[in-house]
Amino acid sequence: RNSSSLDYLCYTIICTLLTLAAFSPASNQYPINVLVMNNVQQTPNKTYSTYVVYRGILLGALKRLQDSDADFEFTYTEDFNYGPYLHSVNGLAGNNIAQTYWELLVKTTDGNITRPDVGIGCYIPNANDQIILRYTTW
Ligand SMILES: *[C@@H]1O[C@H](CO)[C@@H](O)[C@H](O)[C@H]1NC(C)=O
Ligand SMILES: *[C@@H]1O[C@H](CO)[C@@H](O)[C@H](O)[C@H]1NC(C)=O
Repeated sequence: RNSSSLDYLCYTIICTLLTLAAFSPASNQYPINVLVMNNVQQTPNKTYSTYVVYRGILLGALKRLQDSDADFEFTYTEDFNYGPYLHSVNGLAGNNIAQTYWELLVKTTDGNITRPDVGIGCYIPNANDQIILRYTTW
């Protein structure tokens, strides 16, 4: 008799399930830390938390961090051959005359620190990696 209220009930249940699926707790989120440090000047280290999605690239995680944390900002430039690379972090840019740049390092959960052989556009962090953005000289 009152099929429209039944329809509405079904609609409500389906929407609720879809909403729960979309916001199910962090099933596809792999936490990482970002450590910003400076080898050139004496400035305090800063650590931030964000996450990557499954097989997500570091560049996406850095953009997510920038959107969610007013204390973190970065810029990158697009190299024709090598893709995006870090230009500035928190307002400090690499400088050809001073021979400074932002180096990308990764500290894995076993404590090893490695320098990825790819840039921020290709590097795929693992859960609980510490991404180290280190301002240094070349
Ligand atoms: C920043 O962190 C690095 C690595 O943990 C450490 O070696 C360095 O001493 C720290 N620098 C400062 C200024 O705290
Ligand atoms: C971490 O470093 C140690 C010592 O250099 C090495 O034996 C080990 O294989 C490294 N682990 C990974 C996952 O690379």
